[in-house]
Amino acid sequence: MASDDPSKPTITKADDLTVGGCAGSQIAANQGLYGAFIMRAKKVDKIEPPPPVAAQPAPPSGDVYVICDRRDIRDRMGKSFPLMRLWDDGKLRPWDIFISRFGKQYFAYENSCPHQNVRLDWEKNNFYEPNYLKVLMCGKHGAQFDPETGVCISGPCEGKRLTQILCFLDGDDVCITGVNINLDVEVEATVATDPNADAVLENNGFKLQQTKREFFK
Ligand code: FES
Repeated sequence: MASDDPSKPTITKADDLTVGGCAGSQIAANQGLYGAFIMRAKKVDKIEPPPPVAAQPAPPSGDVYVICDRRDIRDRMGKSFPLMRLWDDGKLRPWDIFISRFGKQYFAYENSCPHQNVRLDWEKNNFYEPNYLKVLMCGKHGAQFDPETGVCISGPCEGKRLTQILCFLDGDDVCITGVNINLDVEVEATVATDPNADAVLENNGFKLQQTKREFFK
């Protein structure tokens, strides 16, 4: 770009342009040098996404929460429950758990595979490997988990484990504790976002019952 005014420099290539921030740009603009602010994009090979939430789950409330009746879950089956969990920034966030039954025992886990953090159910309320019904199985890549400990015994996340929640029977009630969830919030049916779990994420007609009693006091 050549200037007709001899008092202004002639710019012939990009390197002749004044480079600077707002101040440099303003000076250049005052001199009639428009377009003098150059930004060069730099290629970034890998951008790490920020952690989804900086907050942590709030400390346990000390309450016991009745989740369902023991007869609601058949042997070698499970049931998912959408809960709202309190975080230490004071916010409630959706938190999916499932209760699985193995004989007379009941176990509660976060419904999240340690491989890719997706839900495990490969069919509605079905968490067990379908042939022998002895281990839990993730529907996405087939990782298998010991039903009592949640340890992955085969698959892409072998050696890792599901996040277990304290769960016990009190009479006919299946209870969890050691968490901080809010019973007063209406729990919305979860929207399926995982192709692995079409139609699985219904609400199960689930409504939390009352806090049963103070547990740790
Ligand atoms: S996401 Fe569960 S095995 Fe891959």
